[in-house]
Amino acid sequence: MKILAIETSADETAAAITEGRKVLSNVISSQIETHAKWGGIYPSLAKRAHEEKIEPVIQNTIKKLGVRSEKLGNTIDYIAVTQGPGLAIALEVGIKKAKELAKKYNKKLIAVNHLEGHIYSCFVQNSKGNPKHEFTFPYLSFVISGGHTEIVLFKDHCNYEVIGETLDDAAGEALDKAAKMLGLGYPGGPVIERLAGEVDNKDFYHFPRPMLKSNDLNFSFSGLKTSFFYFLKKMNEKEKIKDLKQLGSSYQEAVFDTIIQKADKAIQQTSVNQLTVGGGVSANLYLRKKFRSLAKKFRGSILFPSFKYLTGDNAAMIGVVANYKAQKKQFVKDIEQLDRIPRLTL
Ligand code: KG4
Ligand code: ZN
Repeated sequence: MKILAIETSADETAAAITEGRKVLSNVISSQIETHAKWGGIYPSLAKRAHEEKIEPVIQNTIKKLGVRSEKLGNTIDYIAVTQGPGLAIALEVGIKKAKELAKKYNKKLIAVNHLEGHIYSCFVQNSKGNPKHEFTFPYLSFVISGGHTEIVLFKDHCNYEVIGETLDDAAGEALDKAAKMLGLGYPGGPVIERLAGEVDNKDFYHFPRPMLKSNDLNFSFSGLKTSFFYFLKKMNEKEKIKDLKQLGSSYQEAVFDTIIQKADKAIQQTSVNQLTVGGGVSANLYLRKKFRSLAKKFRGSILFPSFKYLTGDNAAMIGVVANYKAQKKQFVKDIEQLDRIPRLTL
């Protein structure tokens, strides 16, 4: 069963052709440079960039498969698209294109939740079918990105229970905002990772770890951001620049330590010790190390996306989710009625 998948929920215009868990063809066009000067995603620019890129990205994906566009109808079985959560005007572009193609090739549509994509990203295989690990439910799945910080009990295919989430900023967003305050540009996560690595990821300042005393599994990063802001306000530019690595490292540690302590609590509360970690921030090697030690502490296992492109937004993960939805016959009933859901939950 081959699926053409489309993803336009934030700042990547992406398409992929998948078969089961295998990615046969994948194209991602990033808008990072467009948004860098704004320090975050600028919605109307995102919409325009998606509109410009969507057709070439899809054509490239088809070409990479070695199929002529006119013959696509004979090759694929379904079309999948991200319905939400995400930026409304960005989601719209992908959905409109998916509807067009579904009509043109007379294919059923599958609407996918972007968060499901990040969860399944840990199970996506390359075209040769690697890595081979099978599903052994249940998993405790973490989605840690610029838009989300979620702890999800992944019970079975397409069956989830959100047991913890952020009440305000997402972890990636918290890193991006701190990087902006330090004048490090966007996206901030990778820059802070590099700076922190240069001082062995040490915690120099011990910034607050929000919500650790609460018994629930929710996060809140806006207080940490505010305390960082006031901390920086007391420093002059020279001190800030001199201390850049120490500041970045300590801030990153506050974010990651909070995540790991909540993860520890989640394992204890659910008795599930098989972990998966996806989303943009899961590219961070130091965070991976922390998660690996946690899994070891509980004699559990851990999976991350196997290829770097699968940590960020991509359509391959959307196609793989769609494969399981198709098996359950979860198709869009009325194509005309399909609409974006910017605040879609699991
Ligand atoms: O999943 P993603 O590409 O988009 C969303 O769905 O949000 O995640 C983007 C986020 C940004 O906040 C970015 O700073 C963060 O992922 N990120 C990282 C790293 N690479 C990307 N954070 C920490 N370390 C990294 N290496
Ligand atoms: Zn994402």
